[in-house]
Amino acid sequence: MPSLLAADFANLQRDIESVPSADGLHVDVMDNHFVPNLTVGLPVVEAIRKVTDAMLDVHLMIEEPDRWAPAYAEAGAESVTFHIEAAQAPVRLARELRSAGARAAMALKPATPIEPYADLLPELDMVLIMTVEPGFGGQPFLDLCLPKIARARALLDGLGKDIWLQLDGGISEETIERCIAAGADAFVAGSAVFGADEPDRMVTTLRDRSGVVS
Ligand code: DX5
Ligand code: ZN
Repeated sequence: MPSLLAADFANLQRDIESVPSADGLHVDVMDNHFVPNLTVGLPVVEAIRKVTDAMLDVHLMIEEPDRWAPAYAEAGAESVTFHIEAAQAPVRLARELRSAGARAAMALKPATPIEPYADLLPELDMVLIMTVEPGFGGQPFLDLCLPKIARARALLDGLGKDIWLQLDGGISEETIERCIAAGADAFVAGSAVFGADEPDRMVTTLRDRSGVVS
């Protein structure tokens, strides 16, 4: 799934149309508090919603997701991801997102373990394991996350539910195969897609490697 963080913010519609093969569009919302960077918010997600029918996968890198996240579901995002490090009441928040019609997802920064949240997993439709420190595109993939990805896979398999395991950060042709081997099944790629000569071709290349969602 392409991350619009690596697109041209002055030409978002053009860049969205440049990746018609994508299974969805990943939108990175940053508030300059949870992460040291500022991107887009609800008005831009609403504007994107108007120009595409693609699945919108909103990744909230913000403080107070309990307060702000439901509005993204109400704006028509099919998936809304909050960071567990910032959530006050993740069970309530996940249920609110689902009742607003969105898939509910929890993100973990590289140093955040999955095990304390094992009991929360049935409330979720997706777990996002960050494979860089969140905040910026174009950073190198952190191999130290691979054991956690494998442990998350084992926890999810034990539940027997269709909960996606998404990775975000440094995903490319070079890194995706070891991510698949560790058990991930959904991938976000920013610079690898929009930095490619043919972005749509890179989407299909990465999906062919992953076999599930790109
Ligand atoms: C980073 C964002 C990512 C970013 C990934 O904090 O959450 O979605 O766009 O960019 P690449 O694929 O360039 O690492
Ligand atoms: Zn992201």
